[in-house]
Amino acid sequence: MSAPVLEACGIGAAYGTRRRPVTALHPADFALHAGESVAVIGRSGAGKSTLAEIVLGLRAASTGHVLVHGERFCGAGRTPHAARRHLVQGVPQDAGASLPPRVPVRASIERALARLGVPGDPSARIRAAADTASLDPALLERTPRRLSGGQAQRAAIARAVAVGPDVVVADEPTSALDAATSAGLADALLSLPARTGGALLLVTHDDALAARCDRVLTVRDGVVEQTR
Ligand SMILES: Nc1ncnc2c1ncn2[C@@H]1O[C@H](COP(=O)(O)OP(=O)(O)O)[C@@H](O)[C@H]1O
Ligand SMILES: [Mg+2]
Repeated sequence: MSAPVLEACGIGAAYGTRRRPVTALHPADFALHAGESVAVIGRSGAGKSTLAEIVLGLRAASTGHVLVHGERFCGAGRTPHAARRHLVQGVPQDAGASLPPRVPVRASIERALARLGVPGDPSARIRAAADTASLDPALLERTPRRLSGGQAQRAAIARAVAVGPDVVVADEPTSALDAATSAGLADALLSLPARTGGALLLVTHDDALAARCDRVLTVRDGVVEQTR
């Protein structure tokens, strides 16, 4: 197998106080390779979002570090340097609520590209990303308020893909959708590794969706284990 795009090395998380820390995530090791999809499953409160937030660099780990292409992305107590944030991008559970409500999707993606210092022609990137996300390009001109739940999730996928990350992390991206919309969105997500060459880390409590991923990590009471 090729060298991993991302390696989590003993990443753990605790909250509470220094004297009375409560462990949310026990030190976990796993790797993501180019072109693969890895599911993260487990009960509510198991620690899945904690893991996802550390990998995204949104939450500082208490222990361990994450490497992207062998270089430190984030480490204990540290979130990633601004210049490396583009390497890992997220798709939230409810994009309709996470994207700025009054900003057309295109402008919101342009802002993200500018903020992350992504080079190249933004309109070409956005067009290609909408295609990858199977988002009707006309919907780029709408604000999130004028999108359905499924369309907003596709807009969030387009936003993540436009940045050109090596890893996309999606945290329960289908859980706010009805079954038919959820199935279409799952297809779009699962096609990302093949279409972008990156890796997909997909947090879900949908066992059927996890079954379609290449591998499965199970989180139980903060302990991460590869179960398939
Ligand atoms: N900063 C925090 N403050 C309080 N509790 C937290 C904090 N971070 C995580 N937790 C707790 O850690 C556990 C794991 O949470 P989470 O990662 O959101 O689980 P999941 O996404 O699997 O439902 C939960 O019990 C949650 O309440
Ligand atoms: Mg969660």
